[in-house]
Amino acid sequence: MTSPIIAFFNNKGGIGKTSLVYHLAWMYFDLGLKVTVADLDPQANLSAAFLDEDRLEEIWEGEIGNTIFQCLKPLLSGIGDIADPHPEAIEEGLNLLIGDLQLSGFEDELSSQWSDCLDRKERAFRVISAFWRILRKAASINEADVVLVDLGPNLGAINRAALIAADYVVVPLSPDLFSLQGLKNLGPTLVRWREEWRERLLRNPAVNLELPRGEMQPIGYVVLQHGIRFDRPVKAFQRWIDRIPTTYNDKVIQKQDAIVAHPSSDPNRLALLKHYQSLMPMAQESRKPIFHLKPADGAIGSHLYAVRDVYTHFKALAEKIAERVQLKLPCAPS
Ligand SMILES: Nc1ncnc2c1ncn2[C@@H]1O[C@H](COP(=O)(O)OP(=O)(O)O)[C@@H](O)[C@H]1O
Ligand SMILES: [Mg+2]
Repeated sequence: MTSPIIAFFNNKGGIGKTSLVYHLAWMYFDLGLKVTVADLDPQANLSAAFLDEDRLEEIWEGEIGNTIFQCLKPLLSGIGDIADPHPEAIEEGLNLLIGDLQLSGFEDELSSQWSDCLDRKERAFRVISAFWRILRKAASINEADVVLVDLGPNLGAINRAALIAADYVVVPLSPDLFSLQGLKNLGPTLVRWREEWRERLLRNPAVNLELPRGEMQPIGYVVLQHGIRFDRPVKAFQRWIDRIPTTYNDKVIQKQDAIVAHPSSDPNRLALLKHYQSLMPMAQESRKPIFHLKPADGAIGSHLYAVRDVYTHFKALAEKIAERVQLKLPCAPS
């Protein structure tokens, strides 16, 4: 079985998506899987979480050229197809496909090639499927068990191509008006992209060109509480939490006759993650996930208990996602 590609997507920024992907990548690695994690957000925050500035400078300004954009370059310049990816080894078995600010220059090309697929143009199919082919190649080079993908917060052409590459989608949400409103656009957009890709697939002129199926199956949402303001009454955010199950069901799953559960028992809710307070900056400073923090990093006293809690939360979340994508965890209790 090929390794599942799981995208983390919400059209609202600053809610903790990248931190979520970063921590899950480490958690799957800790649980004994080989992980490839891809930074497809042109802001490249995930790359900056994994790599220090010196290394990023070498990569972005030097000759190393192992970013996602470098893989696309020959295709974009019209002289060939995608170049082989060279993911960065963070650890043996944890590899990062590095992001690139230049990726934003790919947006227009992806947008125009999307309509060219309807005209049965082979190059259009090569361009639209480029992310998928790069991710699959990277996974095969790394012998990855799972591929996690971080995306920017918008409904643009880069994200459309990235989502077509995804087998599964997890929606990180913050319990507020903006996330709920975002969900109302995101759900129907996923449905439309899936349908439009199916329509295009029938027009692929290149029989030997393997293409993604564009499943992008939504497997649930993660509520990220850190974005909310605690100076406001608790009721304010509880109200949004209460509304998530119905909105998610109506807009993303679109099941008419579903009986919508209470928020805490909603099967679509994969986790509710807390505000990790000072542990998050401490982890960023040490360039490691929170659950790797040690007393030498500043995690002393009650922080150490909190670190263990974070490990428990992320392990449970990783197991839940694994179950939904039929991913076997070596260390999971049988
Ligand atoms: N659970 C959390 N607890 C505390 N701070 C968090 C948490 N998740 C994210 N943050 C902080 O919130 C900010 C935005 O997070 P980020 O993961 O970059 O969001 P996004 O990818 O949605 O833009 C970052 O400064 C990050 O450190
Ligand atoms: Mg981000």
